[in-house]
Amino acid sequence: MKHQFFWTALLVILAVGILAACTQAATDTPAADKSEAEILIDERCSTCHSASKVYSETLTREQWLSVFEDMIAKGADVDETETTIMIDWLVSGN
Ligand code: HEC
Repeated sequence: MKHQFFWTALLVILAVGILAACTQAATDTPAADKSEAEILIDERCSTCHSASKVYSETLTREQWLSVFEDMIAKGADVDETETTIMIDWLVSGN
């Protein structure tokens, strides 16, 4: 009975470990696979809220422009060129 518990526990630990490793690999996109826009979004748009707030929105160019103006007013550190790079990518359907 004791042995059975040991092996079950070991299996569970192994399964959790493998799952954790897989999740890690799926979310950790290597930097080389990322576009300049994604790197910018990850760097500049994740200081106050998660960058997923950006990725989850589907907006038009005009709507993005006003969101960016809003974020810059709140303190986001992006210039005009960077804004254009990010918006171009966001409206491209990525
Ligand atoms: C100085 C802090 C700050 C930075 C940097 C920042 N945001 Fe925000 N953002 C906020 C706040 C505050 C809100 C509203 C509260 C919330 O929903 O968390 C918000 C909300 C949003 C929303 C939800 C819609 C809305 O208008 O409420 C989007 C989309 C968004 N931000 C995009 C961006 C993008 C794109 C960047 C990078 C250019 C960025 N944010 C950088 C502070 C920031």
